[in-house]
Amino acid sequence: MAGITLTENKDIMIANRLDKLIRNTGFQGNIDDLLNEIEHHGKFTTEFINTFTTNKTHFFREDFHFVDLRDRVLPEFSRNRKEIKMYCSASSTGEEPYSMGITVKECDSSMKASIIATDIDTEVLQYAANGVYRFQKSAKEFPEWIKPQKYFKRRVQKSVLGDESFIKINDDIKSMITFGQMNLNDESYPFEDEHFDVVFCRNVLIYFSLEDQNKILKKLFRTLKIGGTLYLGHSESPQDLIDYATRVGQNIFVKQRNI
Ligand SMILES: C[S@@+](CC[C@H](N)C(=O)[O-])C[C@H]1O[C@@H](n2cnc3c(N)ncnc32)[C@H](O)[C@@H]1O
Repeated sequence: MAGITLTENKDIMIANRLDKLIRNTGFQGNIDDLLNEIEHHGKFTTEFINTFTTNKTHFFREDFHFVDLRDRVLPEFSRNRKEIKMYCSASSTGEEPYSMGITVKECDSSMKASIIATDIDTEVLQYAANGVYRFQKSAKEFPEWIKPQKYFKRRVQKSVLGDESFIKINDDIKSMITFGQMNLNDESYPFEDEHFDVVFCRNVLIYFSLEDQNKILKKLFRTLKIGGTLYLGHSESPQDLIDYATRVGQNIFVKQRNI
């Protein structure tokens, strides 16, 4: 299924999430009955996956990757008036692909870019496609070279608990991105080989067994053009790819040849 591997010291986390699963499904019965429905009748699979994913993310996480994208990768596309094709392979609530889009605009506001952003979790995909974030939290996440007011509209929402500020991503950034559901553990991916100029795979492989991590990385690597850049998170390791790519920065790899 999702391939998410839970380690032994996660008992309390699992118990909490199972409680949440019962609440979210509205299932009338105990947890064993619910797990039986999932395992043997294929029911509530989406809710089950959504409950067990960890979606922590923020704008410009590990911002040196966006600096590298801005300074090393994008200028060539800007000079040659060439469209850049990027893939964000575990996009969570959208902050990562929107940061990619903002970086493109920051480099050249007329550059053509397409970003495919996928995740296995349908709830975070909906949140991402909506593109609305709490201002209080998000404002702290932007590096000094980004002025959020250029890329977001701010609005105040009144509620019984008081006023709350939200920011909404502008349509020109949103229109670069196509969100869709995809399981990185699937046997094959719906992209052609050597399709993308840039692939982001960050802070997701940690949830897989070493064997699955390696398989996923190879499948992602195939979708990258020769000369294209792979950005990995601090917990990801390039494993078998190392002979086929050159390391050009912290967890930044340029593909040299096909695996
Ligand atoms: C911790 S978040 C990382 C988000 C973002 N890449 C970042 O670095 O900030 C991990 C994301 O991976 C997604 N995920 C987990 N298992 C997955 C799978 N099998 N296929 C696709 N996405 C998956 C989760 O739903 C979650 O949104």
